[in-house]
Amino acid sequence: MSIAQVVKDIKGRLDGKVAIITGAGSGIGFESAILFAREGAIVVAADIDFQAAEAVVERIKEKYPLHVRKHTLACKVDVSIEEEVKKLVGDTLKEFGKLDIMFNNAGIMLPEDGDALSTDEAVWDATLNTNLKGVWFGCKYAIEAFRRKPNNAGGVIINTASFVGLMGSATPQLAYTASKGAVIAMSRELAVTHARENIRINTLCPGPIRTPLLMNYLDTEEKKNRRLVHLPIGRFGEPVEQAQAALFLASDDASYITGTEFKVDGGLTAAYVTPEGPCVSLPPKNYFKGSKS
Ligand SMILES: NC(=O)c1ccc[n+]([C@@H]2O[C@H](COP(=O)([O-])OP(=O)(O)OC[C@H]3O[C@@H](n4cnc5c(N)ncnc54)[C@H](O)[C@@H]3O)[C@@H](O)[C@H]2O)c1
Repeated sequence: MSIAQVVKDIKGRLDGKVAIITGAGSGIGFESAILFAREGAIVVAADIDFQAAEAVVERIKEKYPLHVRKHTLACKVDVSIEEEVKKLVGDTLKEFGKLDIMFNNAGIMLPEDGDALSTDEAVWDATLNTNLKGVWFGCKYAIEAFRRKPNNAGGVIINTASFVGLMGSATPQLAYTASKGAVIAMSRELAVTHARENIRINTLCPGPIRTPLLMNYLDTEEKKNRRLVHLPIGRFGEPVEQAQAALFLASDDASYITGTEFKVDGGLTAAYVTPEGPCVSLPPKNYFKGSKS
């Protein structure tokens, strides 16, 4: 067998799958877009920040061979607006003929989000609109698209929640926490409802990750250390470590996994008392080249 034949026969884990990733312009979504493309997926990189979505598409084009270049699209979407999510899925179907993977990952965490007394209604509404309603819209139009496919081909949905949907924090961000808990409950119910349609739905529950979303908020060493002490592994996670988990959930390797809260949290939710001593776990490199996080 020639080397060319061997190379041709190497299959990516998402070969030929069409994937929409929301919040693809930064952090977890950015790393996932690159990784999904590397594994052969046709990636629709969607973000409220169109320039950021375009940047990830440019990165994919420069990194991967010609066949990937033709199969990547940047889209502007505000996931909190139903018409925009409907259009995103519609444009994907028009361009690529089907949808296989919906990664509802876009989310916000507002600095004004506090406890029950200090959180304004406007902060509550903005957070819930993006983090919860946006995920619902993504699920709604993805399920509709999956149902149009022949032979019960179904599809996969991954909804990014958070460890705060599973455990309480004395550094409260009530609206954010409520939104993530609701994403977990909603996803579980959707998973059960649509299981016989060959549709798998899981939540990804990251621990604290070194992305702009968290690092802009933890802007002092004191704030960082207040969290680090609770992490058994001893460091914040990297966005690429979430992308690897999302890739697994999106792939056929996870064919019997639905309705789970997939925790990728450095052991956080398993811990009562954490170890002392230095962190010896080396963070992997992200694909992102800048210094956003
Ligand atoms: N970073 C963490 O520690 C952490 C932990 C747990 C869960 N999460 C969740 O992971 C997901 C990704 O977060 P990240 O850390 O990569 O954040 P990030 O800020 O790096 O990226 C989020 C992206 O979402 C986009 N976005 C925001 N609002 C949008 C909207 N209405 N419509 C479309 N796009 C929108 C932003 O422009 C940005 O590109 C979020 O749902 C977040 O809540 C993050």
